[in-house]
Amino acid sequence: MNTQIPAVLTKALRSANHIAVLTGAGVSAASGLPTFREAQTGLWAQYRPEDLATAQAFRKNPKLVWEWYDWRRSLVAKAEPNAAHIALAEMARRVSKFTLITQNVDGLHQQAGSVDVLELHGNIGRTKCFHENVVIESWLETDEVPPLCPRCGGPLRPDVVWFGESLPKHAIDAAGQAAINCDLFLSVGTSGMVEPAASLLRVAAEHGALGVVINPTRIHAPAGVIQIEADAGEALTALLDQRWPQG
Ligand code: OAD
Repeated sequence: MNTQIPAVLTKALRSANHIAVLTGAGVSAASGLPTFREAQTGLWAQYRPEDLATAQAFRKNPKLVWEWYDWRRSLVAKAEPNAAHIALAEMARRVSKFTLITQNVDGLHQQAGSVDVLELHGNIGRTKCFHENVVIESWLETDEVPPLCPRCGGPLRPDVVWFGESLPKHAIDAAGQAAINCDLFLSVGTSGMVEPAASLLRVAAEHGALGVVINPTRIHAPAGVIQIEADAGEALTALLDQRWPQG
């Protein structure tokens, strides 16, 4: 592990009272979960989002959409948190205020021990009623796909945010506040292509935080943002060692 940490970041890490972190699919890549926009391997290189991740798609072909999420749930069930999830859970224990914001729906941050995670795009492990928009914990397993809501008989869907839908209000409001108030904002493993999450880095930088991108590939970022071109697990472990050296 040889990630170079610029001096300005070391200084910011040492003095930060509030660190906010936004994560994306790249953070779970080392756990074996595909990202979305990478050529060849990204989910959106193989599937069209408009066929699978919109309410219209679900209305048109609920079985196809349910089964695609079922496949993704099976990948998540096999996945374990990696060094990036573990480093972030550890970082939270060491700074006075820490806000973890994620676009991921896989629950791996919580599995690694992170608490109060702001899930902007929901969680693939939860199910809700398509008509009533309420979380449903259990239902009768029949041959019906998707299964039916025990309350209203409507189809069940994953509790994730689809294109064209609003983000959970509490999560996006709290994420916005953290971007405004933090001293250091890390954007990790996200292409920064999807709003409103993508704007959080800019908001943080505009409000005086040091902005840092961690991604093996350079992305479009506001002026003044530091880009560390490295794997999330390597870079976050290096940041922890820099700020809280062992021994
Ligand atoms: P993307 O697939 O758009 O971006 C993933 C980023 O992770 C890319 O920029 C990669 O270069 C980077 N990456 C890959 N491996 C990495 C590693 N080992 N360490 C660090 N970074 C790595 O995924 P997101 O930005 O998360 O939304 O996508 C945002 C949203 O778009 C998703 O939440 C999903 C999708 O459509 C919904 O489904 C609503």
